[in-house]
Amino acid sequence: MLEIVFAKPAVPKSGALSVLVTEDKAALWPALDQAAPGLARALAAGEFKGKKAQSCLVLAPSETLSRVVAVGLGKEADLTPRLAEEAGGRAASALAKDAHAAVYAGGLSPELAASVAMGAVLRSWRFDRYRTKEKPEDKPKLAKLSVLTSDPAKAKAAWEKLKPVAEGIFLTRELVSEPANVLFPASMADRAKAALTPLGVKVEVLGLKELTKLGFGSMLGVSQGSANEPRMVVMQWNGAGGTKGKKAQPVCFVGKGVTFDTGGISIKPAGGMEDMKWDMAGAGAVIGAMAALAGRKAKVDAVGLVGLVENMPSGTAQRPGDVVTSYSGQTIEVLNTDAEGRLVLADVLWYAQEKFNPRFMIDLATLTGAMIVALGSEYAGMFANDDALAQQLSAAGELTGERLWRFPMGESYDKMLKSDIADMKNISGGRGAGSITAAQFIQRFTNGKTWAHLDIAGVAWGSKDTATVPKGASAFGVRLLDALVAQNFEG
Ligand code: BES
Ligand code: MN
Ligand code: ZN
Repeated sequence: MLEIVFAKPAVPKSGALSVLVTEDKAALWPALDQAAPGLARALAAGEFKGKKAQSCLVLAPSETLSRVVAVGLGKEADLTPRLAEEAGGRAASALAKDAHAAVYAGGLSPELAASVAMGAVLRSWRFDRYRTKEKPEDKPKLAKLSVLTSDPAKAKAAWEKLKPVAEGIFLTRELVSEPANVLFPASMADRAKAALTPLGVKVEVLGLKELTKLGFGSMLGVSQGSANEPRMVVMQWNGAGGTKGKKAQPVCFVGKGVTFDTGGISIKPAGGMEDMKWDMAGAGAVIGAMAALAGRKAKVDAVGLVGLVENMPSGTAQRPGDVVTSYSGQTIEVLNTDAEGRLVLADVLWYAQEKFNPRFMIDLATLTGAMIVALGSEYAGMFANDDALAQQLSAAGELTGERLWRFPMGESYDKMLKSDIADMKNISGGRGAGSITAAQFIQRFTNGKTWAHLDIAGVAWGSKDTATVPKGASAFGVRLLDALVAQNFEG
C-alpha cells in the first residue's frame, strides 16, 4: 500500500507536488506562488479553472520542483469526502512517476485531507504478481505521499479509520484479479481464512462432505462437473458483543463465488469467457467487507457467507433438465446450467437465515449479463423486499460512489419461473427481464426475511481507469457495505 504521511504545508525542497484547487479560489497557495512565481501565471494562462475532474501539469515550475500538478476540486460549497477522494486519486495518478511526492490539501479540513489520502491509496493499487519482465522505468514508482494539511494529527486520526477499509478493498481486488487456476474454491477459502483470522473474525470452512450432509443439492449440482471441490465459508465478526446479552441479530452478507463460470453443459461462447474468472466478485466483496469491518473494529455483529464453486462441463456435470432438491426442500428444474449463480445463492441464503436470525440479508452477485445491458458500469442493480433497507443502501451508494439503481419485483415476474415438473425452473425461458426473474428466483430462498440483492455484473470489473479505481477489479460493494453499517448499524 502507498505509504501516507501527513505534514504541515511547506513547499517541498524538490520533487513532484500536486495542489488541490477549488473553483472559486483564484490564488493557489501563497507560499508556492512565491517559490514558483511562474506557476500561477502558467495556470491562469491555460484553461485550468479548478473545476471538478480538471487537472493541469506544469513541468519545472521552479529551480527545484520537477513538476506541479494542479487538480480541480470544483466549487468549495459542493465539496464532499467523495470528491476529495477523487481529487486525491487523480493527484496520485499524475504523480506516479516519482517515488516520493507531496499533495497540498491546505485549504481543506483535516477529515477531507484524509479522504485525499484514501483516494490516492485506492488509485495507486496495482496487481503485479505475475509481471516478471516489466522494465523498472515502466513501473509506477510512487511509494510515499506526503499530504500537506494544517492539522496533521487530526488528519492522521481520520486516516487510521479509513485505512482498514482500503485494506479490505485490496484483499477483494486481489481475489478478483487472480486467475482461476490459482483461485478455486479451496484456495479462495484458504485465503479468506488467512486474511480474516488475524483480524479477529471467526472463519469456518465447510467442504463437500459437510455440504452433502446438509443437503445443499442446488449448490452441489453446479459444482459436480468440476474436479475442484466446493466450499462454503462462514465469517463472523462480533463487534457488538455477539451472543452476549440479548439474542444477536447480526447483519448478514452473502456472496456468489463462482471461481470460474464456463456455463457448464450450457456452455458459453469462447470469446470473452476469460472474464468469468471474476464471477466470484460478490464473494470477494463480502470477504473484503468483513475485513474492513473487523479491521476498523466496527461496533456491529456481522456475518458473511460465501458459496464457492467452479461451473464446468464434464462427464459428471449437471445436464439441462436435471431436477435438484435445494437445502430449503424446494425442487428446481435446471433448464440452463449457465444460470448457476442463483443456484448457489439459493442454498447459502436459506442456510444464512436459518442459522443466524439475521436483521437483514444482502447478497452480492455477478448474476446476469442483462444487468450490463440495463445499467452498463455506472450503477449496480438493486432488488429489495424492504423500502427502508433499499433507502439505506441507496444512501450508502451515493456517499461512496458505489451507486445503486432499484428495480421492480413482483408476482407477475415471479410466475415466469413456474416449472412443468418441479417447484420452479432456474430460468424464465422468455427474452425479457432477465435480471428481475433472477432476483425473483433468489427471493424464493429468503424465507420472507428482510433482504436485498445487488447484481454487480456490470460494476465488478472496469475496462478503464476511474479517479479512484484502476482498470480491472473494482471491489465494488466493500465500501458500500462498510458505509451502510457505519451509517445505520453501529453503537
Ligand atoms: N456469471 C454470469 C453473468 C455475467 C455475464 C456476469 C457476463 C458478468 C458478465 C451468469 O452466471 C450467467 O451466465 N447468467 C446468464 C443467465 C441466463 C442463462 C439466464 C446470462 O446472463 O446470460
Ligand atoms: Mn453462468
Ligand atoms: Zn455466473
